[in-house]
Amino acid sequence: MGKSPQVIAVVGGQWGDEGKGKIVDYLASDCQVVVRAQGGDNAGHTVINSQGTFKLHLIPSGIFNSKTTNIIGPGTVVNPNSLISEIDSLNQSKISTKKLILSEKSHLILDFHIYLDSMQERLRGQNKIGTTQKGIGPAYTSKVKRMGLRAYLLKNPDRFLTLLKQILAQEALYFSKNNIPNEFKVEYYEEKIKNWSKILSNFIGDSDLEIGDHLDKGSKILIEGAQGALLDLDHGTYPYATSSNTSVNGLLNGSGIPAGYLTKVVGVFKAYQTRVGEGGMPTELKNKLGEQIRVKGQEFGTTTGRPRRVGYFDSLAASYSHLINKYTDIALTRLDILSGIKELNICSKYSVSGKDRIHFPIDDQILSQAEPFYIQKDTFSGWEEDLSMVRSFKDLPKQAQDYCQAISKIFKGAKLSLIGVGPQRDSLIVV
Ligand code: GDP
Ligand code: IMO
Ligand code: MG
Repeated sequence: MGKSPQVIAVVGGQWGDEGKGKIVDYLASDCQVVVRAQGGDNAGHTVINSQGTFKLHLIPSGIFNSKTTNIIGPGTVVNPNSLISEIDSLNQSKISTKKLILSEKSHLILDFHIYLDSMQERLRGQNKIGTTQKGIGPAYTSKVKRMGLRAYLLKNPDRFLTLLKQILAQEALYFSKNNIPNEFKVEYYEEKIKNWSKILSNFIGDSDLEIGDHLDKGSKILIEGAQGALLDLDHGTYPYATSSNTSVNGLLNGSGIPAGYLTKVVGVFKAYQTRVGEGGMPTELKNKLGEQIRVKGQEFGTTTGRPRRVGYFDSLAASYSHLINKYTDIALTRLDILSGIKELNICSKYSVSGKDRIHFPIDDQILSQAEPFYIQKDTFSGWEEDLSMVRSFKDLPKQAQDYCQAISKIFKGAKLSLIGVGPQRDSLIVV
């Protein structure tokens, strides 16, 4: 009998930026395939390893292992300009992109999507989502209304242009005849499409066949989630969510890997919490401590540079994330950032209009009104020690061990497998 394949999904457990890039870079060392399944260049995944410091937006974080096939999967939305500049910048750092495949089924983000993203945000006024303005929502909207442009069209620029002309004619109906922005005129794209076609055609391929071969061969495949479970279009804090399915089921669908092959689900969680963009966040620290963590942790968006909102670890949010993903393993990142804090809290209860609540509410209005409630068992003594050189759980200060164990208990049936103590690939405690 041949080897059985392994499929590991790496899911952001919170509101994104949990450190997925670092965990995927670490886990990819013995994977034959790494695939991005959803989202686009709204993602910003930081990898720091012996080859340098990299901020990836579209290309999977397995790209640093030259033997690994890296796939931008069918469920993604891809801005050709971003992809080209990411390929260029990796190649300049001597990172090969020879084994990169752009799924022919992936959808393209064009400038008119970006235009619509910022226009829609402006129109939402006070209710804005705080999107990354990368055109993600409008590109997925085009796909859902079956007016999307898929990557395989880049292999035939004439056909691309003909289709684009029909699509733009409809999209331009939003504007008065004399006031149609250039992004909605087909001429704007003619040269660009030829150029994208020239550069990207060789990367475009059938990722299903590639993955199918690897499953037959018994390969190890990793699916790299983007964003986080609480931003999932269906299961997240809608409408303050992204436009793709960021949870494990979305990763399977978006990668094209049949669910029966899944062997592991790794949830990546920060040892505290952050959120960029709008929407409720009950444990947010709008005080000195929040600012202290933001500064020490350099909590500024990888894609947009926006300051991230910082808060205590929220066990209601984490339990909910576990409920919809059923993690087998937890990677807890950034424990090192919490050194030097006197007291830490893990929220296990909200109060909403005077009533206790122990389950995460999915209605943002309720979430925004929820007050975190810290009872005695939610409070933990902090530690002073620098953790960056610690490599085994038993060498962590007792208080840090207690804190990790309390978080671990939230995830019934899952194992706390990895603890991050610094941004570098090897700044990890393998538990
Ligand atoms: P992603 O979007 O989930 O890949 O995360 P980002 O790259 O947007 O943000 C995570 C940040 O945390 C990056 O700057 C990483 O280099 C950094 N990071 C990841 N793990 C750790 C850790 O354990 N400790 C510290 N100090 N930084 C970490
Ligand atoms: P990674 O993969 C954190 C947030 C935006 C906004 C909402 C919708 O690096 O974890 P969008 O542009 O997707 O329509 O914005 O989602 N958001 C992220 N927040 N990390 C990300 O990706 C994010 N991608 C989108 O801030 O609140
Ligand atoms: Mg990020």
